[in-house]
Amino acid sequence: MKIVTVLGARPQFIKAAVVSRTFKNYNNIEEIIVHTGQHYDSNMSDSFFNDLDIPTPNYMLKLAGSNHGSMTGGMLKDIEEILLKENPDAVMVYGDTNSTIAGSLAASKLHIPTAHVEAGLRSFNMKMPEEINRILTDRISKWLFCPTEAAVRNLEKEGFKNFNCSIIKNGDVMQDAALFYAKKSSEKSNIINSNNLEIGNFMLCTVHRAENTDSEDRLTSIFQALDEIHKDCQVILPLHPRTKKMLYKYNLSPNITLIDPVGYFDMIEFLKNCKAVITDSGGLQKEAFFFKKPCITLRDETEWVELIENNFNKLAGVDIDKIISIYNKINKFNSNYEMNLYGNGNASNVIATELLNNNNAFKI
Ligand code: UD1
Ligand code: UDP
Repeated sequence: MKIVTVLGARPQFIKAAVVSRTFKNYNNIEEIIVHTGQHYDSNMSDSFFNDLDIPTPNYMLKLAGSNHGSMTGGMLKDIEEILLKENPDAVMVYGDTNSTIAGSLAASKLHIPTAHVEAGLRSFNMKMPEEINRILTDRISKWLFCPTEAAVRNLEKEGFKNFNCSIIKNGDVMQDAALFYAKKSSEKSNIINSNNLEIGNFMLCTVHRAENTDSEDRLTSIFQALDEIHKDCQVILPLHPRTKKMLYKYNLSPNITLIDPVGYFDMIEFLKNCKAVITDSGGLQKEAFFFKKPCITLRDETEWVELIENNFNKLAGVDIDKIISIYNKINKFNSNYEMNLYGNGNASNVIATELLNNNNAFKI
């Protein structure tokens, strides 16, 4: 079976790393990797391919522009050409980025069945570019690999059982990645020592979501709250290039510890050793749970509702008082991390076997 994987953003490299590794165990799967170039700084892209042994992309696209239309349109055109040349049995996409919708749209117009990993997630906030990307990708995909029960329920409510597709709850490939790479991180990373961090006494933070960075009020409020928390417990924040640009634009200079984006092994070491996580990232909310750390989410809603329902994570939005008040109650979060919310690390295997067993299911 020949599969073309389309990826382009940091979280997709981490997800694809474990799935590609699994594909290598099956000699009847050939994977061709297309990197759309969406993320291009070496610490947002190359470092993940090197550290996580992701096969070098067979195709490396050049980003067409930074607006959503030009970026997605440019990718669409180039991916179509590649698919016409490669003529794969399936196209595989991850998550909800512009690379995801470009890959799935190019494939569906050529009647090539698409496998969507992280299908069924919803924030119900149509202002998020990710919400548009994921809804459209789900609708035109054939294999809908859902990480959670809530994701399956969303698809059922939207009538997906009436469509010609397979809804498969396979668990979360990020759980596979966390389990696999956590075994190696302590020997690969020195990030705790090199930043002089006190184990168990620092907050790991990331901020990059467009709804936060592109509003001066929201971003200012977030960083004021982080500065307040930093007076009590060190806040370390690997800075996404989008946020870096906006801090400069709004002339903000926070007092917290800002560092460049780090590799995945460093991130795991941060997660293992921090007190708690503050983030607006999708992936990091789950990783906080994987590494048994409370999480404060700087958003008004989340796709990972099971973390909220079970009190592992709290939505703080961007209100300074609310963020600080939740921070002050961090010891009262649920600490029973034995719940199985995201599978047992077998999500990638389910994907491989499902694709192979139903290779012909969606051929036209
Ligand atoms: C994208 C995804 C988002 C995901 C995030 C993961 C979309 C719509 N958004 O958001 O869902 O959570 O990736 O990190 O696809 N930039 C650089 N160097 C890079 C990458 C980006 O300088 O290597 C800067 C550029 O100025 C770019 C901006 O960051 O214009 C935003 O990048 P973009 O890929 O459009 O969106 P993200 O915010 O990264
Ligand atoms: N991450 C990383 N280095 C960093 C920041 C994040 O390796 O400096 C990892 C993080 O641990 C998680 C993934 O990147 O696995 C999440 O990506 P991001 O927050 O960029 O996107 P999202 O998950 O919100 O789409």
